[in-house]
Amino acid sequence: MKDDSTGALIVKARGVMKNAYAPYSKFHVGAALEAADGRVFVGTNVESASYGLTICAERMALGAAVAAGARMFRRIAVTTDVDPPAAPCGACRQLLAEFGLELEVISAGPKSERRWTLAELLPAAFTKESLDT
Ligand code: THU
Repeated sequence: MKDDSTGALIVKARGVMKNAYAPYSKFHVGAALEAADGRVFVGTNVESASYGLTICAERMALGAAVAAGARMFRRIAVTTDVDPPAAPCGACRQLLAEFGLELEVISAGPKSERRWTLAELLPAAFTKESLDT
């Protein structure tokens, strides 16, 4: 069930999505990442004429959050213009996993939503514990 605060997070992701820089794919993505202390950090995808340099919205939001000192996160809302809503790519799942697999991931398209935990999206994850000998 969608509570009001989840709705507000989706609205923030959808709001920043209009600033996506995606002249090549035309696929606009917005992300709103909620920290444990309630702060919300947003990001959009940023593409490059050198296509492989593209950065996803989720990793932009995470970078902004980390730069502001946040390290613990509750939820991330990701918005696109497609249904069923697009799930975060593998690279974004992996970088988000750095900060905990309990993160709730909400993908929202114009007509529907999907949600998972990050653990569900990234089973058998490689994490910092994997580095322990
Ligand atoms: N994209 C994201 O921003 N997040 C994802 O999780 C998947 C893909 C962007 C990258 C590129 O600018 C466009 O969507 C098409 O792949």
